Order: sequence, then structure tokens, then C-alpha cells
Amino acid sequence: MRQFNSILITGGCGFIGSNFIRYLLEESDFTGHIVNVDSLTYAGNPESLADIADQYRERYQFEKADICDIKRIDQIFDQYQIDCVIHFAAESHVDRSIFGPKDFVQTNVIGSFNLLEIARKHWGVRLSPIKEDLLFHHISTDEVFGSLDETGYFYEDTVYDPRSPYSASKAASDHLVNAYFHTYSVPITISNCSNNYGPYQFPEKLIPLMILNMLEGKPLPIYGDGKNVRDWLYVGDHCRGIWRIVRQGKIGETYNIGGNNEQRNIDLINRLCEKIARATGKHPDELKKLIAYVPDRLGHDRRYAVNCDKIKSELGWEPAVDFDRGLDMTVAWYLSHQEWIDQIRSGGYQKWIETNYDAKSSN
Ligand code: NAD
Ligand code: TYD
Repeated sequence: MRQFNSILITGGCGFIGSNFIRYLLEESDFTGHIVNVDSLTYAGNPESLADIADQYRERYQFEKADICDIKRIDQIFDQYQIDCVIHFAAESHVDRSIFGPKDFVQTNVIGSFNLLEIARKHWGVRLSPIKEDLLFHHISTDEVFGSLDETGYFYEDTVYDPRSPYSASKAASDHLVNAYFHTYSVPITISNCSNNYGPYQFPEKLIPLMILNMLEGKPLPIYGDGKNVRDWLYVGDHCRGIWRIVRQGKIGETYNIGGNNEQRNIDLINRLCEKIARATGKHPDELKKLIAYVPDRLGHDRRYAVNCDKIKSELGWEPAVDFDRGLDMTVAWYLSHQEWIDQIRSGGYQKWIETNYDAKSSN
């Protein structure tokens, strides 16, 4: 099993990155040091890790930096003697990519390219044997494979067919990561995961948006006919899968991660209505009346479904949290974290960032 001393995590203040840092420090066998590099876009909230920053001062550092800033990332690599990169940072929302694709190309393609260049520079070109004490793990999505009809699955060797600016930019970064392995022998692994849900997810994505709109009595917008299918995975299961690959995955390989849990959007929303009704004492029909069919997303992918046989058979990973329990935990989390929701919604944490980070870094 690979061991690392100093892991650079990009995008650690976002949804999956913050859950992963929490997992690494609180649940995994990792004993080294973590540097979290995040530029704190609208989606990054350092408050999501405030308790961690406090509790693990010796082992956890936050650096507010943009992965597109090659000089700064180079310095960070040097300063912390990075031996592993786990790259989460991205623009991640499909709807935003439709209305403003430029940031997606910038962060997801150029930012990933910068990180690879820096890793290559610091780690050097090693032809053979591939070094097992260094790793660049790239977090990607099942959306690079395109859209499925009623049947079939995405496999690791399914031909890429991205259809939104988001998935196209992620596909481009996956190709670059593979190219750096084949051309320069940078030791890499890639994971392509299905839709995640759980605590700390920004309420623009389906599940947290629906929970908060139900609590606030706002319309529940369903794109198109509501019959698009996603394969949902609890974020904690994703974190375990990533760590398994980082420790034991084969260098140069891609692993699919999914929940084996296909849901039509409309069924998922009806189920959430039942859960929120139970939690708040409302009648489910009162919440279901909020459902509002709206015009479809442009180029809306119909169905995603991921085959995970490879990670199961090679690394012994499978999802542990069933959908019902995962949704209950997620609803309970949003119900008990009103302060986090208020901060995200008001942009209050952006002011906090200005006071705590921007002022300091301009001194
Ligand atoms: P998120 O939008 O919640 O978080 C992204 C984080 O990256 C934020 O903290 C943001 O501030 C940071 N960031 C953005 N641009 C940056 C830049 N230029 N420099 C430094 N930091 C920057 O995203 P997420 O849902 O946590 O997704 C994390 C990763 O997982 C992404 O690569 C995404 O493509 C992938 N992924 C997500 C899902 C999902 O369901 N959310 C599923 C599969 C894969
Ligand atoms: P989303 O959470 O944006 O993830 P992705 O597009 O990356 O799969 O959306 C999940 C599904 O829910 C997708 O089919 C689009 C649909 N959706 C709605 O119907 N209404 C909404 O308000 C949102 C945000 C998504």
C-alpha cells in the first residue's frame, strides 16, 4: 500500500473536498500532513472546515490560491514537499456551464494542466519503474461518458462522449492526466464518479436545492419531464473509494465509482417530499404541490448509470450507505445547519473571506 507524507488537496472547501478532508483526518489511517488549496469561489466555504482547522492545526493547512496561478502553486509544492495530489478543484455545475462556459475551461482544463506541469517539474520524469511513492489522483465524473438510453452502463473503457461544457472540460482534463502518464510517466490514477449527495453540498444541485425549497415553501423546479435518471452515491462512500484508489489503485488506471442506485428525478423528489413532511410535521401533499415542471435544461443528458465491477473486484470497495439512510442523514444535516445555509445564501462567508484571507495575503 502506498504511504504519503504531504498531500495537496485542491478544492478542499467545496462539497466533496471538504467531506474528503474530514474523512482523511477523522476516519482514515492517514497520519501525514494535508494542504488544502482553494481559491474560494462561490462554491468554496472555509467555514465547512472551521472545526477541522482548529482541531488539526499541526496536520492541516489552508492556502487560499487559484490552481491557475502557476507560480503560487509551484511555491506551495516546494514549501510543503508534496508527494501526493488529490485534485478536486473544479467548476462543477452543469447549468452554470451552459450559461458561462469560460470559467469551466479556465479552471477545469487550464488549472488541471498547471497542476500536472508542476507535478512533472517537481517529481521529474521517471521512465521505469514507475515510482509508487508519488501520486496525482484526479477526481472526475461519469458525465464524460455522455448519456445512456433506457439500458446499458458506463464502463471504464466506454468511449468518451461529453455533451455539456462542464463534462467536456472534465473530459479534457482526464485526457491531459492520461497524457502526462503516458508521455512523462507522472504517476496518476483517475476516478469517474456518479452524482454525489450529502452534507455541505451547495444548494444549486438537485438534492440540497429541493430540501431547502421545501423547507422555505418555494417551487420545486423539475426540468423537462422529470424522468431523467441519475445514479446517486453518498459522499462518504465516494471518499472511501478515493482513498482506496490513492492507496492501492494501479498507477495509470481509471476506476468508476457509483452507487448502483438509479433514480428518476421525479421519484427522488417525491421521496424527499415524504421525508421532509415527516421531519417537519407537514402533509406530503402540501410539499408535492410545490412541484413545478419547467423548460428542460439544454442538452439534458437522459440517463447515467455506472458499472463499478473493477473497483469492487480489484480494491474491494462498494457503497455502504443505502439511499434511504443517506437521504435521512442528508435531510437531518440540512435541518440542523441553518447557519451554514444562511452564510451560503447571503454570501456572508465571502465577507468573512475578505477579512480573514484577502486582507492577510495583500499585507
Ligand atoms: P464544488 O463546486 O462543491 O467545489 C469545488 C471547489 O473548488 C470549491 O471549493 C471552489 O472554491 C474550488 N475551486 C474552483 N475553482 C478553483 C480554482 N481555480 N482554484 C482553486 N480552487 C477552485 O464541487 P464538488 O461537487 O465538491 O466536486 C468536486 C470534484 O468532484 C469536481 O472535480 C467535480 O467535477 C467532481 N465530481 C463531482 C460530483 C458531484 O456529484 N458533485 C460527481 C462526480 C465528480
Ligand atoms: P444536478 O444536481 O445539477 O447534477 P447533474 O446535472 O450534474 O447530474 O442535477 C441532477 C438532475 O436533476 C439532472 O437531471 C437535472 C435535474 N434538475 C432539475 O430537474 N431541477 C433542478 O432545479 C436541478 C438543479 C436539477
